[in-house]
Amino acid sequence: MTRIAIYPGSFDPPTKGHEDLIRRSLALADRVVVAVAVNPSKQPLFPVAERLAMLRATVGDEPRVSFEAFEGLLAEFAESVGASMVVRGLRAVSDFEYEFQMALMNRRLHPALETVFLVPALDLTYLSSSLVREVARFGGDVNGLVHPAVADALSARYPQ
Ligand code: PNS
Repeated sequence: MTRIAIYPGSFDPPTKGHEDLIRRSLALADRVVVAVAVNPSKQPLFPVAERLAMLRATVGDEPRVSFEAFEGLLAEFAESVGASMVVRGLRAVSDFEYEFQMALMNRRLHPALETVFLVPALDLTYLSSSLVREVARFGGDVNGLVHPAVADALSARYPQ
């Protein structure tokens, strides 16, 4: 049986932390579906098509990873792709409460879906998409924090 993990998020933009989590997920699952949330109530910096393209550039040629956009409930989308687990990253205690609530709600919606928390590489634990956006907005150097394609997209968004 093929074990499928779903790794959902906003990925606005994808960071090296996301890439690290995707690669770690491959140790647990045969296939990983990276699922980009389309949230009509949020105003993302990058449209979903661009986030998907940046994720593809970040992960590169990895046949066991696919990228999809989804709208609505994660639990329903996970079921539609045959995923048996949701992967989420835990960087610090501050992530825990929200993640715990989400995991329990997703379990209520889809009891067979397990949430698995992975810890990113130590040197990436402080990294978040919102910090990367902020650094880029004020002209700071994001090289090393994101794939060069993402750094280019941020420079285009925030010309200095
Ligand atoms: O990268 P993020 O913003 O922390 O990701 C949050 C995300 C997209 C995983 C979460 O908001 C989500 O699953 N949204 C889909 C809607 C849904 O299922 N909400 C109920 C989850 S309890």
